[in-house]
Amino acid sequence: MSDTATVGDTETHQHIDGSLLSLHGISKSFGAVQALRDVNLDILNGQVTALVGDNGAGKSTLIKAIAGIWQPNEGEILWNGTPVHIRTPRDADELGIATMYQDLALCDNLDIVQNMFLGHELLKHRLLDENQMEITARQTLADLSVTTVQSIRQPVGSLSGGQRQAVAVARAVMREAKLVVMDEPTAALGVSQTAQVLDLIKRLASRGIAVLVISHNLTDVFAVADRLAVLNLGHLVSTGPISDYDTQSAVELITTGRLTRTESSPPAAGNDTADGGG
Ligand SMILES: Nc1ncnc2c1ncn2[C@@H]1O[C@H](COP(=O)(O)OP(=O)(O)OP(=O)(O)O)[C@@H](O)[C@H]1O
Ligand SMILES: [Mg+2]
Repeated sequence: MSDTATVGDTETHQHIDGSLLSLHGISKSFGAVQALRDVNLDILNGQVTALVGDNGAGKSTLIKAIAGIWQPNEGEILWNGTPVHIRTPRDADELGIATMYQDLALCDNLDIVQNMFLGHELLKHRLLDENQMEITARQTLADLSVTTVQSIRQPVGSLSGGQRQAVAVARAVMREAKLVVMDEPTAALGVSQTAQVLDLIKRLASRGIAVLVISHNLTDVFAVADRLAVLNLGHLVSTGPISDYDTQSAVELITTGRLTRTESSPPAAGNDTADGGG
């Protein structure tokens, strides 16, 4: 099966059954900078895929292509096996892709309920249905076991970083996102807040939602991910179940784009494309 860690599998990429989102041969350049080169990646329902790589490896560029911020120069995106064009954030939203950037795009001056329904407010007799929105928001937070916020009517500006993440995640769940994409969700968080957010990520996956999370913190990655995807200089150099990796092999792939140590890696980790250097 293709569902093992592979290194330099760009020539032999096989679609994994049950993929919600598949990237095929995605390339993206900014002028002379080639940010993504022939990237193949499958994102599976109910699984957390961690996307790792050094600064400038292309991680944010990759998720922005999925989020409709910009379109790849080459390649194809499949959604449930069907080719799609994600031209705008609205296209992504309509497919069920919710993307959370580091600043989260929440409105500090609005309360939790207002943020969760922003742009999709419930109406009753042409007026805002505050009661129903409050009930739904409270229920969604409870379903996600988010218990640390004091009042759902407090402004988001008064929340901690972890609580803000929780509101953003609850918003995505409420809108029935099928894929939740998070860029560095724990980067600014303390130890217990990080644990809460990782917990939340696992709960999303256990509801069948596909999660793609960027992180520089390998401890977090190994705590939460079902699958790993490693970018190096725009190449997707390795992807597979997290159990195929350890910290050492992940660090090596992130920093050099290849594995020198082979005894513990599967035979599938075959020929390296090794064309990225120069
Ligand atoms: N809008 C842009 N215009 C020009 N170059 C860009 C743009 N966005 C990204 N790049 C370049 O593309 C490459 C990949 O950047 P990207 O932001 O995807 O990296 P990253 O893996 O997210 O890094 P980090 O871990 O630092 O966030 C870098 O060389 C970057 O300079
Ligand atoms: Mg980035």
